[in-house]
Amino acid sequence: MPDYKEIQVNTVPAYTVRIGPGLLKNCGPLLRTAVPPCRMAVITDSVVEELYLETVVTSLKAAGFAVCTYAFPAGEENKNLSTLSGILEFLAREHLTRTDCLIALGGGVAGDMAGFAAAVYLRGIRYVQMPTTLLAAVDSSVGGKTAIDLEAGKNLAGAFLQPAAVLCDTDCLKTLPQAVFAGGAAEAVKTGVLCGESLFALCEKGGLETNLEEVIARCVAYKAGVVERDEKEQGERKLLNLGHTVGHAIEKCSGYSIPHGQAVAAGLAIMARAAEGLNWSGGPVAARICACLEKQGLPTSTEFSAKALEEAALADKKRSGDSITIVVPKRIGACELVKIPVSELLFVIGTGLADRPGQEG
Ligand code: GLY
Repeated sequence: MPDYKEIQVNTVPAYTVRIGPGLLKNCGPLLRTAVPPCRMAVITDSVVEELYLETVVTSLKAAGFAVCTYAFPAGEENKNLSTLSGILEFLAREHLTRTDCLIALGGGVAGDMAGFAAAVYLRGIRYVQMPTTLLAAVDSSVGGKTAIDLEAGKNLAGAFLQPAAVLCDTDCLKTLPQAVFAGGAAEAVKTGVLCGESLFALCEKGGLETNLEEVIARCVAYKAGVVERDEKEQGERKLLNLGHTVGHAIEKCSGYSIPHGQAVAAGLAIMARAAEGLNWSGGPVAARICACLEKQGLPTSTEFSAKALEEAALADKKRSGDSITIVVPKRIGACELVKIPVSELLFVIGTGLADRPGQEG
């Protein structure tokens, strides 16, 4: 079997993230060491079903697992209660028990959907993450956040449940459409801003494709440390929301036509400009972050007004009473949680948009 990069996430229970080529076709033998003999329910979406489901099922069966499969229609708009209900009814019809296991095969939506189903089916069963997009590889497959969207907003119902293992097959990432790859690169750049020069400089080189395994491994290693120290997002883990307050607002204002990664990229750039404009940063930071995002083909601004973004952001779950915690990039490798009154958010966003033609904040 090829050599994989392995990162241990020391939560309770602990699990291993494996990163490398050819993992899907070897998933059966690899999971035998992570999961006791059981039935495997592979949950995926209609796009990934066509591409990878057969490979995964073949490997699982050859390793002695009994397998059943369920595919839901692809798209963020299907990350909802109706899809969850379809998955739960399927698991019940298949008589999956607490000693069995789910596999989340796909991008962020499949990971969130299957993870949340695993968290609530029979009050919680084991699951494995097999990310097939860069966004899922560098961020959402690790750390145990699972969620579905409600009509009122994104990820408003969810649970924390750590996976039993993560298998990240880098071969899947080589054929992603450019915009989908770029969306994942946004989360990698975000992690670089949090983590420091070693990862940020790798992202700055552009062309993440050439250092793919290294970038993913560094993102995962950084996130693993944060999650180990603050699994339930009581403090430090909130840093991982860098760019997300404005990013989620952009997604919402666009009726979710702007993908998550592209929205986070713009949100990150807006926060970097705001940090500089409000003298919260330790020096110039925005130009470097924006240049890095642009190198990945990502946006660094948005057409929406500060007012529209503020209103959308205040409906987000990051608000707590009359205050909201935002993540401020002070330098590469030094970000800070800043709690501000909700009444100041408009000014902060306006400052971040200030160099946009025709925008007065
Ligand atoms: N995506 C941010 C987190 O897992 O906390």
